[in-house]
Amino acid sequence: MAIFLCVLFILSTLFSSGHSLPRPPFNETPTLPLAEVANTGPSPLPSPSGRPKYVAVGLGTQNYTCNATSGNYTATGALAQLFDATLYLAAHRNQIPSMPQTYLSLYNALPCSKSPSPCVAQDDRCEGLANSLFRPRPMNILGEHYFTSSGTPTFDLYDAPGRPFMFSKKAGVVPAPSADDVDWLYLTSNGSSENSIISSVYRVETAGGVQPKNCSGSGSIEVPYAAEYWFYR
Ligand SMILES: *[C@@H]1O[C@H](CO)[C@@H](O)[C@H](O)[C@H]1NC(C)=O
Ligand SMILES: *[C@@H]1O[C@H](CO)[C@@H](O)[C@H](O)[C@H]1NC(C)=O
Ligand SMILES: *[C@@H]1O[C@H](CO)[C@@H](O)[C@H](O)[C@H]1NC(C)=O
Ligand SMILES: *[C@@H]1O[C@H](CO)[C@@H](O)[C@H](O)[C@H]1NC(C)=O
Ligand SMILES: *[C@@H]1O[C@H](CO)[C@@H](O)[C@H](O)[C@H]1NC(C)=O
Repeated sequence: MAIFLCVLFILSTLFSSGHSLPRPPFNETPTLPLAEVANTGPSPLPSPSGRPKYVAVGLGTQNYTCNATSGNYTATGALAQLFDATLYLAAHRNQIPSMPQTYLSLYNALPCSKSPSPCVAQDDRCEGLANSLFRPRPMNILGEHYFTSSGTPTFDLYDAPGRPFMFSKKAGVVPAPSADDVDWLYLTSNGSSENSIISSVYRVETAGGVQPKNCSGSGSIEVPYAAEYWFYR
């Protein structure tokens, strides 16, 4: 099964590298689903102005390191592949609440999501394999979300026209509807002159990514998660 999936992944990589067609604007604007959370507390998420430029499904891991002194996990960053769901979710709004969970379930069912896996050389691409199994069709790659070595949350939409890019900082945070899912966030540009085209993003409809309650020793863990990232100019 694992070898079959590796082969399937390689084939899907070969045949899915086409670039997106020119896109119509996301003008039938779906509403950012802020009504699904109790958007209160010290740092609620503001209402967006204008239309989203892109809506991505992010799939990857949240990283944590054990703080041996306090006996709980400290967040150290995240790494996620971003897939372009802009047009798909405009046409399938009923899937806005469920698409990240669908991606996470596809990912968790793959042998390459376990470590160590028989798909070692493909581990970093397990996200791509999960995407290749999404029906009716895989989404195009949009880019990558990662943290710099200094801990800056970064969005590099390298496959989108003009390569939108943003070093960001957290500007809003509210708990997800379920404690099993990471918080919903609002991030804005950190003011870097390298930033381009996008200047804010919401992380919503989160699925997974929550660390275990306590820990001992000094190990690091990766917890799979998926989310929608709604990008604005
Ligand atoms: C670990 O936890 C202790 C006690 O809560 C705290 O003082 C310390 O700053 C924490 N270290 C890190 C790296 O977060
Ligand atoms: C970690 O443990 C410390 C000390 O027990 C506590 O103050 C802190 O709120 C905990 N952090 C998390 C994220 O649970
Ligand atoms: C933004 O983040 C980048 C990457 O960490 C950093 O180099 C830069 O100094 C930060 N702030 C500004 C204002 O550019
Ligand atoms: C976490 O705490 C629970 C009790 O609150 C305990 O049963 C469990 O062994 C702890 N796990 C670790 C890794 O410390
Ligand atoms: C955490 O994330 C980084 C990328 O940001 C990755 O290189 C690393 O392997 C991850 N895992 C752990 C356990 O730190």
